[in-house]
Formats: sequence, C-alpha cells, structure tokens
Amino acid sequence: MNTTELLAKYDVPAPRYTSYPTVPYWTDDPTSGQWLAELNKTFDSNPQTGWSIYIHIPFCESLCTFCGCNTFITRNHKNETTYTAAIHSEWETYLSSVPLLKEAPLRQIHLGGGTPTFYSPENLRLLLQPILDGAQIDPAWFEGSIEVGPRSTTSEQLQTLLELGFQRISMGVQDFNPEVQRLVNRIQPYEMTRNLTLLARQMGFESVNYDLIYGLPAQTEDSFRQTAETTIALRPDRIALYSFAFVPWIKKAHRLFTEDDLPKGAEKRALYELAREMFLQEGYVELGLDHFSLPTDTLYEAYEAGNLHRNFMGYTDQRTEVMIGLGVSSISEAPTCFHQNEKGLNEYKRRVLAGEVPTLRGHLLNEEDRLHREQILQFMTQQVVVLNDDAQTADARDYLGELLNDGLVKFEGRRMELTERGRPFLRNAAMALDMRLRRHKPQTRTFSQAV
Ligand SMILES: C[S@@+](CC[C@H](N)C(=O)[O-])C[C@H]1O[C@@H](n2cnc3c(N)ncnc32)[C@H](O)[C@@H]1O
Ligand code: SF4
Repeated sequence: MNTTELLAKYDVPAPRYTSYPTVPYWTDDPTSGQWLAELNKTFDSNPQTGWSIYIHIPFCESLCTFCGCNTFITRNHKNETTYTAAIHSEWETYLSSVPLLKEAPLRQIHLGGGTPTFYSPENLRLLLQPILDGAQIDPAWFEGSIEVGPRSTTSEQLQTLLELGFQRISMGVQDFNPEVQRLVNRIQPYEMTRNLTLLARQMGFESVNYDLIYGLPAQTEDSFRQTAETTIALRPDRIALYSFAFVPWIKKAHRLFTEDDLPKGAEKRALYELAREMFLQEGYVELGLDHFSLPTDTLYEAYEAGNLHRNFMGYTDQRTEVMIGLGVSSISEAPTCFHQNEKGLNEYKRRVLAGEVPTLRGHLLNEEDRLHREQILQFMTQQVVVLNDDAQTADARDYLGELLNDGLVKFEGRRMELTERGRPFLRNAAMALDMRLRRHKPQTRTFSQAV
C-alpha cells in the first residue's frame, strides 16, 4: 500500500493525547474539595515536589477564524485589571488551601491564551510579580515561557518578561502567505514576525518557537513551501507544525469554511511532509507529534536524554508532578487527578472572587488510568513503550493488527515501537493503549482527524 492509500485508510478521528484519560473520557468528576485534597496528598507525601503554573489569558483583539483556543474577543483593555484581580484571588485560595505550595520548588511558569501580550508591560508585571514573589524559585531550574501574539508584542513587554525571569517565547505565525492570512482573518506581515524574532534574540531570549498550521484554506504545496523557506531563513529554535484541527461542531467560526475549502487527507499530509523534509535538511530534528527543534535547543536535549514530556501545552523539556492552571478554562494536573476551571469568563470571575476553586470538571485517576497515562506519555514522547505483561501485548498486537501488517508498528516481545513509515500514524497507534476510548467508542464527533 502506498502512502496516499495509507493516509486515506487511517484518517480517522483520533485524540492528540495531551492527557490521558483524554478530556471527553473524564468521568469521576472531583469536587473542588477533592481536587485540593489530592494536591495536599501529593505535597504531604513529598514536600519538595516540583510544580509549575499555567496562566490562561483569554483575550484577543480579533478572532482568527481557524482558532480552537478558549478566547474572549475584545478591544477593552480594562479587562486586564479585573482579570488580574480574579487570578490573584484564585491564587490566594490555592495558597491558603495547600499550605506546602509555598515551600515546594516552582519549576516552570507558562502564560498561554488567547494572547498574553494583550496585557500592557505594567499589567504583566502586576499580574506576575506577586505570584513569583510568593514562590520558591531556584533560578538554576526555573523556566518561564509565554505565547506571544506578534501583532501586539512590544520591546517593553519583552523587557518586562526578561526581568521577571522568562527565557522562552512562542509566536503564532501559522502561515506567511498573505492570501491564507486574509482568509483566516489574521494579517501578520512577514516583517512583523522577522522583527520580533530579531528583537527577542537581541534582547537575550534563549529560545524562540514558531507555531505553523498546515491544512488551512488556500494552502498549496507551492505556498507552503515558501512558508517553510521563510521559516528556515528566520531559524526559530523550535517549530510546532500543527495539523489544522477542524472542529466546526465546537467552534462556530470553523463553519465559515466548508470541507471543500480545505486541503485534507493525503493532500493535507503532503503539506506536512514537504515542510518536514525541508526542516530536516536544514538541521532540525523531528520530535514526537508535530514538533521540530534545533539540536542546540533544550527540547532536543530532553528528547535525547529520554526526558521529553507532554502536557496540555504540548511538548516540554521538564516534567513536574503538579501543574496548577490559573484563569478561565485552565487545566491542572496532579499524579492522581485532572481538574479544569470554569469556561465562562464572568462565571469564572464570580466564583474565584467568592473564594472558590472554580471547578468545571476533572478526573480522579484509578490505578489502571495511571499505568496507561505513563505508557501513552512514553509512546507519544519516544515512540516506543514496553508493555506491562503478555496479556497487554497480545491485546495491543491484536488491536493494531492492520498497522502491524502495513509495517507502521512493530513488536519485539513486550516492546511496541512506531516504525519510521508509521510516523504519521502516532495518534492511531497510541489508541491501542487508550482503554477508556476502546471500551466506549464516542457516539458523537469528539476528536479531530488523525491526518
Ligand atoms: C494561543 S495561540 C498562540 C498565541 C497567539 N494567540 C497567536 O495566535 O499568535 C496557540 C496556537 O494554537 C494553534 N492553534 C489554534 N487553533 C488551532 C486549530 N484549530 N488547529 C491547529 N492549531 C491551532 C496556533 O498555531 C496558535 O499559534
Ligand atoms: S490564534 Fe491566537 S490570536 Fe488568533 S484567535 Fe486564537 S488565540 Fe487569538
């Protein structure tokens, strides 16, 4: 079977496995009290548990029509002050409910969105300084990273971030082609991306990431080749090359496109393969799903050392046992529990200002979940996993029979490995370890397509 036929055969809905169980399979909803109890249990058993913070800033001045993130579109910058007050209130609740948090080392902070650079430099400092001041930080280990919107990022913001200890920035680029940009309502001239990249380097940021998306309307092999060439010329340290997750049943703006407007199946994958070849030739290394890094970047070092980690933000080079997500819709995790905040902005604010942890949903992991979570994490980061026992191996071999026959996975005893040819099918192969999904197939459209 040739690659085109394989892509058609395996282009089925599949999770991206930024968590296990995946969010639609969270069942044992913890209350806020249970979530806090799980956190306390973790820190009680090891007061030196490393942890990280994610802060979600939902604001964007305009909507990119492909966007799948949790956003709030506004040009009213007074939102910064009221939202900061809400985040600080949520943070205070954590500090008073989980006393050991103040003693345990804070290893990472990540700001995502939305567009965190919606905030002015002063308001970024007012948001972050009190949180950082109250935490145990060892500068040798601490990592600060932020998603910046190149259309709204200034040198003053970058300077403030550097002073607060941030070393990494990730920029939304998506595509350099003006026609594609027009169709997705995101005009971002090349010079804007170039100037911000040069500025960040000059100011001393250690790592610059570009987000690109393949599968957008009007993308062709020629146009995407140029996007890849321009990217290579600017030489970001990391590149995330995302598959357009087309989910019109969740995101209304996706209904502006019909499936006929979008490259799909083999045509869509060809865009990925084209850019991939070009990145590899220019010295980038492919890591896991959709990510590339220069060998000088810590993401590659982590990959080489077998320490690459994957969480809700994608791949990271450090694993912490606990991640606390602050802000509307943020997701948190501990070894035994996932937790997501309220998704409505006003309801989120109301609840945190009343001193609540604004639980929307979550999941308490049982023993089996914890085993499969580790296995899926290992497979998504290293493309190889040693299964638990002969019964699980026989079951996975059976489930992956077709992929095995097509040479996309191979088994050696209990070792299950993705082959080079199987790379585009990482998500399909990982489904063998996803017992929650296998026992209860989704009845409605839930996941984006694997290709
Ligand atoms: C929060 S945004 C990045 C920061 C900033 N808002 C910006 O756009 O410049 C996170 C990234 O998610 C990716 N993304 C958003 N919606 C997506 C979708 N439907 N499919 C694939 N990737 C998507 C984009 O590459 C985007 O840069
Ligand atoms: S891609 Fe970024 S800027 Fe565009 S709507 Fe989504 S979060 Fe906002």
